[in-house]
Amino acid sequence: MEFSLFLYLALLLLCSWLIIVESYQKDDQLMHKDEYGVKDVKTDYKKGGDFASGSINLGGLELCQISQFTEVWRTDYGGPEDFGVTFFEASSLPDGFSILGSYAQANNKPLFGGWVLAAKDNQNESSNGTLKMPVDYTLVWSSESMNVTNDSNGYIWLPSPPDGYSAVGLVVTNSTNKPPLEKVRCVRSDLLESGEQDEWIWGEGTGQIIVYGLRPTTRGTNALGVQVGTFVVQVAGADTPLPLFCLKNVNFTLAYMPNATQIEALVQAHSPRIYFHPDEDYLPSSVDWLFSKGALLYQKGNESNPISIQPNGLNLPQGGTDDGAYWLDLPIDEGAKDEVKKGDLQSATTYLHIKPMLGATFTDISIWIFYPFNGPATAKVQLINIHFKKLGEHIGDWEHVTLRISNFNGELWRVYFSEHDKGTWVNAAELEFEGTKFVAYSSLHGHAAYPKPGLVLQGDTELGIGLRNDAAKSNILMDTDSNYEIVSAEYLGTIVEPPWLNFSRKWGPKISNNIAKEFGFIHKLFPGVNLTKVFPDGLFGEDGPTGPKWKNNWSGDEVI
Ligand SMILES: *[C@@H]1O[C@H](CO)[C@@H](O)[C@H](O)[C@H]1NC(C)=O
Ligand SMILES: *[C@@H]1O[C@H](CO)[C@@H](O)[C@H](O)[C@H]1NC(C)=O
Ligand SMILES: *[C@@H]1O[C@H](CO)[C@@H](O)[C@H](O)[C@H]1NC(C)=O
Ligand SMILES: *[C@@H]1O[C@H](CO)[C@@H](O)[C@H](O)[C@H]1NC(C)=O
Ligand SMILES: *[C@@H]1O[C@H](CO)[C@@H](O)[C@H](O)[C@H]1NC(C)=O
Ligand SMILES: *[C@@H]1O[C@H](CO)[C@@H](O)[C@H](O)[C@H]1NC(C)=O
Ligand SMILES: *[C@@H]1O[C@H](CO)[C@@H](O)[C@H](O)[C@H]1NC(C)=O
Ligand SMILES: *[C@@H]1O[C@H](CO)[C@@H](O)[C@H](O)[C@H]1NC(C)=O
Ligand SMILES: *[C@@H]1O[C@H](CO)[C@@H](O)[C@H](O)[C@H]1NC(C)=O
Ligand SMILES: *[C@@H]1O[C@H](CO)[C@@H](O)[C@H](O)[C@H]1NC(C)=O
Ligand SMILES: *[C@@H]1O[C@H](CO)[C@@H](O)[C@H](O)[C@H]1NC(C)=O
Repeated sequence: MEFSLFLYLALLLLCSWLIIVESYQKDDQLMHKDEYGVKDVKTDYKKGGDFASGSINLGGLELCQISQFTEVWRTDYGGPEDFGVTFFEASSLPDGFSILGSYAQANNKPLFGGWVLAAKDNQNESSNGTLKMPVDYTLVWSSESMNVTNDSNGYIWLPSPPDGYSAVGLVVTNSTNKPPLEKVRCVRSDLLESGEQDEWIWGEGTGQIIVYGLRPTTRGTNALGVQVGTFVVQVAGADTPLPLFCLKNVNFTLAYMPNATQIEALVQAHSPRIYFHPDEDYLPSSVDWLFSKGALLYQKGNESNPISIQPNGLNLPQGGTDDGAYWLDLPIDEGAKDEVKKGDLQSATTYLHIKPMLGATFTDISIWIFYPFNGPATAKVQLINIHFKKLGEHIGDWEHVTLRISNFNGELWRVYFSEHDKGTWVNAAELEFEGTKFVAYSSLHGHAAYPKPGLVLQGDTELGIGLRNDAAKSNILMDTDSNYEIVSAEYLGTIVEPPWLNFSRKWGPKISNNIAKEFGFIHKLFPGVNLTKVFPDGLFGEDGPTGPKWKNNWSGDEVI
């Protein structure tokens, strides 16, 4: 035994040059600057009323979303994947609108779908208007001392606002001259919300500048902050990025949210085609299918008397908290249990939650899918795959993807893919399309959602140890526009939520896994490695998850 272990280790060393840590690669989505704007994402929503009418009036402050840009300054060095950054100025503004700041985007992404808001004061109160020109500018950074271009240098300016106003963006120029004062507007303080840094756009930790997106600090269904689409910078010597603000939907106007007809049209236009892995053993089902197949409701202290569940979860306890007083479990009979675990694609339904986001200037459509069973995990230990017997299993698996749609123009901005305890946003222009449908992949057994096929390793990519998430195309798929149910849209006031949604306890019992047994092999190979740190928490004892409504992300922003 010891000898064979030694042999194996020697073999590992020999082929260590071969060991390639496969991870989620964005490379084939990269576009050269000349290809910007070539993608045409299909939209077929029904306009009308205030939704997608082109502008949003927050009361004295009218906003529109601009996606046409003039390039001001670029460099091909630094930033994500060392592709550099381009700074733009919004162009073709409608009459009376002004910019609130410049737009910045990393060059490893196509520009199509990029946007920034422009604003107009429609109050006619010149003494105390909602917008005012800055009184001056301060130069916060220039590229002069950085060797990142052979063309003109770039300059970033912070507008100095008049009293009672603040800037919500920075202005970029390609000359040393201060921008004209009428270039940009500052916003009256009562219409501002605090902002924080968003995704990384350019610069390095050790460089002179880091550029981030800017988003409202508080985000969620009821949060008032409006994302402007501007950016924020952190310059050398400063601990934190410059203070900048977002806009505020003060009176929480919901008039620009889609109505029921428009939601149907949006779902038809934008819902994904979901591919399951060719080896998938555990498909989704409807919740009613699970109930009709003998799923049981257990009560703590009364475990010997589980009861069957009525259609739509009519007899499930309502409300309360996730206190462990009740839980669901599969049927007791082994045959029935195995059947339920497999799921039932034919009955599978997507459950939609429609909600305002970013101060109700965007609509999130969260598309939830239910899987009766989450299969065991597979670990990858460098070149070796270890198929666990039990580890990673749990009963009752809720997964989702979320569409974020602009209430200005009805277009899909980006899509969130939930991947275990977090997820990723992918801009519409970077999605894979089949006809008019974008494609999502459900990973083998774990059912995490991915925008592309392939292997994603969850763990320590340098050591090459982690859990496998395998996604691939197959003939098992689900077109989510054909069988869906809107289960919640609080703002409409007309949707009656099904009782199963108001069940606050777990959809499966707690499983404690025998770590020592299944991990023995890996422990022997890597005695110095803390495997608890490398592998995700959930692996070591899976709680059956709570339903969609009882997750933070139900009313909060998605977790990245
Ligand atoms: C939604 O708005 C559109 C456009 O104004 C209108 O045609 C449609 O009847 C409305 N639908 C509902 C359910 O109110
Ligand atoms: C918010 O509503 C109040 C009361 O209706 C109104 O007086 C105020 O002007 C509104 N503010 C904005 C910014 O629309
Ligand atoms: C400099 O910026 C202006 C917009 O402010 C733009 O029209 C011009 O093309 C830029 N010059 C260069 C060399 O990029
Ligand atoms: C503001 O004034 C313009 C021109 O005088 C007028 O067309 C517009 O309706 C006024 N807007 C408001 C909100 O009073
Ligand atoms: C301007 O209007 C805002 C919002 O109505 C108010 O809070 C502020 O006091 C006003 N300022 C002046 C100088 O009138
Ligand atoms: C900038 O880079 C060029 C070569 O790309 C080099 O010749 C020059 O010395 C560099 N300048 C500075 C200030 O580093
Ligand atoms: C400037 O031009 C030289 C010669 O073409 C090139 O080697 C260098 O990489 C360029 N530097 C930058 C920062 O683009
Ligand atoms: C246990 O469950 C059974 C079946 O639902 C029910 O009739 C009984 O009252 C429960 N007992 C207790 C102590 O809750
Ligand atoms: C959920 O259940 C609680 C407790 O019975 C109840 O107060 C609440 O109204 C229910 N919510 C919905 C949306 O049905
Ligand atoms: C291993 O990592 C876990 C989680 O980070 C930590 O709680 C535990 O103390 C670590 N164990 C050792 C032996 O370092
Ligand atoms: C959603 O929120 C819950 C916490 O309420 C968290 O456990 C879960 O990982 C989150 N899921 C995603 C995909 O963000």
